Amino acid sequence: MAFTFFFRDIHTLEQLASQFIPYAEGAAKIKIWDAGCAMGPEPYTFAIVLAERMGYFQYKRVAIDATDIDEQDTFCKIIEEGIYPIGELARMPPNILEKYFSRVADSENYQINEMIRSRVKFTKNDILTLNPIDSNYHLVICKNVLLHFTQEQRIEVIKMYHSALAPGGMLVTEQTQKLPAECEHLFTQLANDANVFQKL
Ligand SMILES: C[S@@+](CC[C@H](N)C(=O)[O-])C[C@H]1O[C@@H](n2cnc3c(N)ncnc32)[C@H](O)[C@@H]1O
Repeated sequence: MAFTFFFRDIHTLEQLASQFIPYAEGAAKIKIWDAGCAMGPEPYTFAIVLAERMGYFQYKRVAIDATDIDEQDTFCKIIEEGIYPIGELARMPPNILEKYFSRVADSENYQINEMIRSRVKFTKNDILTLNPIDSNYHLVICKNVLLHFTQEQRIEVIKMYHSALAPGGMLVTEQTQKLPAECEHLFTQLANDANVFQKL
């Protein structure tokens, strides 16, 4: 199983939301691509962060394409059902757990509610084919994935994200990855202490 959990690197996702919401506000459909989403905690965490900050009608316009190479073919069912063991939810504030999840009877599992689930759609996709499943995204989230690639692959992947983004669209990567010099002309960094970039 891929390593991930709810509210991972929440500081970055909160900072991202502060920059992202004003940018995406006017869009009829707010398009987000979470590339390398594992079994869903990351796209669902960002969906919760947006739900906490957006009004009802704006939130209804959010569409998150969650993709992963998913070699075992297991992530689609998990993400569609939105059922997770309590261990993966342990870092969430109790009020968020209570607000967006309900306990599955006779188990230690919790199901994320329909309002959040309806914003996230899973598709299998291998990032290294350099074929995004759609275009004109307002945001690409790609965290704790680039480290698995060679530097040459990272450069091609980041260029691919750049072309999949709408004008002014945003990209967020893991803290440990520097933007390769070959891609510096494509983005400007929005936050000093988070890898949040905006398409130039
Ligand atoms: C450590 S998990 C990161 C999950 C999530 N992004 C997070 O930060 O919590 C890495 C994920 O990248 C996926 N992955 C690795 N290579 C990939 C590729 N070429 N295309 C798509 N997904 C890939 C793995 O299947 C795994 O689910």
